[in-house]
Amino acid sequence: MRRLLHGTRNNRSSDNNGGFFFFCYRYFKWILWFSISFYFFSSFLNNPTSTSIISRTTVYRTKLASRALIEQSFVNSSHGVLFKGMKVYVYDLPSKYNADWLSTNQRCGSHLFASEVAIHRALLRSDVVRTLDPWLADFFFVPVYVSCNFSAVNGFPAIGHARPLIAAAVDHVSTQLPFWNRSRGADHVFVASHDFGSCFHTLEDVAIADGVPEFLRNSIVLQTFGVTHKHPCQEVENVVIPPYIPPESVRATLEKFPMTGRRDIFSFFRGKMELHPKNVSGRFYSKRVRTELWRKYGNDRRFYLRRQRFAGYQSEIARSKFCLCPLGWAPWSPRLVESVALGCVPVIIADGIRLPFPSAVPWAEISLTVAENDVDSLGDILEHVAATNLTSIQRNLWDPSVRKSLLFDVPILEGDATWQVLKALAQMLDRSHKKPSDKNVFSTSENEK
Ligand SMILES: *[C@@H]1O[C@H](CO)[C@@H](O)[C@H](O)[C@H]1NC(C)=O
Ligand SMILES: *[C@@H]1O[C@H](CO)[C@@H](O)[C@H](O)[C@H]1NC(C)=O
Ligand SMILES: *[C@@H]1O[C@H](CO)[C@@H](O)[C@H](O)[C@H]1NC(C)=O
Ligand SMILES: *[C@@H]1O[C@H](CO)[C@@H](O)[C@H](O)[C@H]1NC(C)=O
Ligand SMILES: *[C@@H]1O[C@H](CO)[C@@H](O)[C@H](O)[C@H]1NC(C)=O
Repeated sequence: MRRLLHGTRNNRSSDNNGGFFFFCYRYFKWILWFSISFYFFSSFLNNPTSTSIISRTTVYRTKLASRALIEQSFVNSSHGVLFKGMKVYVYDLPSKYNADWLSTNQRCGSHLFASEVAIHRALLRSDVVRTLDPWLADFFFVPVYVSCNFSAVNGFPAIGHARPLIAAAVDHVSTQLPFWNRSRGADHVFVASHDFGSCFHTLEDVAIADGVPEFLRNSIVLQTFGVTHKHPCQEVENVVIPPYIPPESVRATLEKFPMTGRRDIFSFFRGKMELHPKNVSGRFYSKRVRTELWRKYGNDRRFYLRRQRFAGYQSEIARSKFCLCPLGWAPWSPRLVESVALGCVPVIIADGIRLPFPSAVPWAEISLTVAENDVDSLGDILEHVAATNLTSIQRNLWDPSVRKSLLFDVPILEGDATWQVLKALAQMLDRSHKKPSDKNVFSTSENEK
């Protein structure tokens, strides 16, 4: 704040930057206005004397009616601005890059890859982080729905079109506006929410051979794929995001099966478990982990393993103590989010997986990690935990803030998944080409010399 004020004063005398700083000045006033009005708004809501004047129902209705106001709580009055005042510009792309896909396949707004849609919607609804003026933006969000098109109802995506579609979008924005060329894409943000993220292929060997498209390599990719070792599909600045689970589906399940309710299933897994997985260019589905699970525990009464699809599977998760999250083709799985959201301790069997938002989710305290090679002793491992520290793991897991941080809400809720993405972007502000405060400090010290 001091820096910004400082800069504004300093630049009154400078002609060439006048317009720009006029903008900053206006922007600062705006933030101040919001901080002050939020301060009064929140003290009004929290003050028991003022709530007793009008009925609590009215207050509640007011709260609902003004959902936009929720966002004002993002403005932290003691620190001036949230996320260091970071602003995101959302490109208004022709509908062939996003809305058209959604209208031909409604499911793509709610399937496990739908974070590409949810983040876009959440940003469009954000009064605080979004800017309509690209000159004031630190980051540029490019909304291309690459995971929308499906080859089959089983949810296996056809993403052959992903590369040309994104390439065309980049071509579009770089010819229409100067911002892509200015940074060579370094302050541009994309979502790659399917199997191998920014490699845009569902099979790992093809994904690896293709690598990250040349034109994206300077940019920031929000992707579900992440491993702790070097991998060609994360050779780009990236943020690991959780797969999408509709928040309302989780809430509906929790209404019927509360977090702390009876958990009569010891260990749960429902999904593909091939008895004889095919060797696809030297790779086996789930590295045979699921095959092994079925072979070893298929008849074990402690294990509730099912190979068929079942629409009501969320209630099974909510009734379980441990939920197995073995790798598929890629290490990540939507089960991770559903287990956490429904309070079932995730048992992660995916060597080297990099999990989303480690600063918000204390993974080591809310989950168990079992090596792919140790699947044979899974029964003993789970028995041991159940007899020792299961209760303390559950206590950590049932913290509402943990659940919240893996779900994408629209509009953004403080601490939710889009919020975590923004928090991660705020750590990359050195990529921003709008650096009013830093530029000013620099010019101030130059002047003082
Ligand atoms: C503002 O942020 C600081 C540090 O990030 C935090 O300690 C404080 O509780 C926040 N205040 C409000 C009103 O959110
Ligand atoms: C969408 O997927 C279908 C089925 O795989 C495919 O035939 C079609 O070409 C895809 N559309 C585009 C634009 O890639
Ligand atoms: C950005 O660079 C490309 C390639 O050099 C060029 O075709 C395009 O016109 C430039 N965009 C703008 C807005 O100048
Ligand atoms: C899997 O197939 C590859 C060739 O695609 C072969 O080299 C390899 O030996 C096979 N592995 C097994 C375990 O059958
Ligand atoms: C619970 O116990 C297991 C196995 O003894 C251990 O690996 C894990 O770190 C413990 N977790 C917590 C949160 O105490």
